[in-house]
Amino acid sequence: MSGHGDAQPMTSAKSGPLKGTAAVPGDKSISHRALIFGAMAVGETRITGLLEGQDVLDTARAMRAFGAEVTQHGPGAWSVHGVGVGGFSEPADVIDCGNSGTGVRLIMGTMATTAMTATFTGDASLRKRPMGRVTDPLSLFGAEAYGRKGGRLPMTVVGAANPVPVRYALPVASAQVKSAVLLAGLNAPGETVVIEREPTRDHSERMLLGFGAELSVEKTSEGHVITLQGRPELRPQTVAVPRDPSSAAFPTCAALIVEGSDILVPGVSQNLTRNGLYLTLSEMGAEIEFQNPRTEGGEPVADLRVRFSDNMKGIEVPPERAPSMIDEYPILSVVAAFASGRTVMRGVKELRVKESDRIDAMARGLEACGVRIEEDEDTLIVHGLGAGGMPGGATCATHLDHRIAMSFLVAGMASKAPISVDDASPIVTSFPIFEGLMNGLGASIRRGAAQNL
Ligand code: S3P
Repeated sequence: MSGHGDAQPMTSAKSGPLKGTAAVPGDKSISHRALIFGAMAVGETRITGLLEGQDVLDTARAMRAFGAEVTQHGPGAWSVHGVGVGGFSEPADVIDCGNSGTGVRLIMGTMATTAMTATFTGDASLRKRPMGRVTDPLSLFGAEAYGRKGGRLPMTVVGAANPVPVRYALPVASAQVKSAVLLAGLNAPGETVVIEREPTRDHSERMLLGFGAELSVEKTSEGHVITLQGRPELRPQTVAVPRDPSSAAFPTCAALIVEGSDILVPGVSQNLTRNGLYLTLSEMGAEIEFQNPRTEGGEPVADLRVRFSDNMKGIEVPPERAPSMIDEYPILSVVAAFASGRTVMRGVKELRVKESDRIDAMARGLEACGVRIEEDEDTLIVHGLGAGGMPGGATCATHLDHRIAMSFLVAGMASKAPISVDDASPIVTSFPIFEGLMNGLGASIRRGAAQNL
């Protein structure tokens, strides 16, 4: 598991041109949810295209610990024998969610309205992240949580024996918090209501409807009002997990900055709660064609034809777009370094509480690679150097963060001198085939540190 093993330095050097098809693995958010909702249905849910990244494997292990039967049948093909809403049994040991904030927060929500006690932990990155944003609303259902200072893991959650439904307005735009409250609401009698001012990824709502829950979403002046009827019997489903647009971002952005590239990235989600990066890249002048629009696994998708774009311009990213591209700011800041002019990213303070402080990690790494950065608590500004303009020639710290590692490896593919990362091992959490897939397109990524940095 990442964070528990040895650091794995990796280096990327001038690459390409990138050619071919970048078929990225299944969506991480949807994979976690398929396992968790499957565990709460009565009977067998079948899943295809499941992301077999460490984060999702940790959630599969957790579902077994709560009593569900989770079986792998082949690559990406899994089944879950669910125990029904309220049917979880108390785990015999600590639940280790590894690197995954989504895993731990959704699972806390799932057990918080059942009379049982569970203790959660994770790797050094996850143990730094705030859990109060989830345990605060869970306490309204009647659950109790005892963690370290600042609401940090390890943390013990005592589920409510007699849960009451809640009405909760999200204080922060977070699909994890929204989903934790909805999952807790499943085993509370009556109506649980979540209000979100800014729309965040809606996979939980879509999947709850698919599994047969009674849920409605009303658009009001307060934002989205999501109402869930408690204690449904969830019916098992067949879930086809679509490809992950957050993983697709890496080959897409690599092709934009590596000279002569022309690749196809099939099946990229066009779900409006996930596609902010692709809108932003198009506004910057990226050459991306959206081909063959269709529906896959219940999500609108398109095939992306992506070509080297030597004329991209920095832009102001609208802050209200942040929830729809929250995981893509690290790789956008790399593209911004290869555009001309300033790219201004405001309203991004949530990046400070991800797998790492992503504003700080990108700012320090890009500066080491010769890029001028401005930042404050809620803002990141990248001064672009134009196509081929980044000097590189540095080793960047990844802080146990997969997206930081992949972002700097992509940067090294187009910078003048190679870029190393101190630890690429976290990449297995979300994109276990990253190295092979990128090298297959024409990248020059190799294990080990560069000798002369
Ligand atoms: C996720 C929600 C986002 C995102 C994370 C996955 C989810 O986190 O950063 O990678 O699956 O619900 P927040 O809800 O904390 O913004």
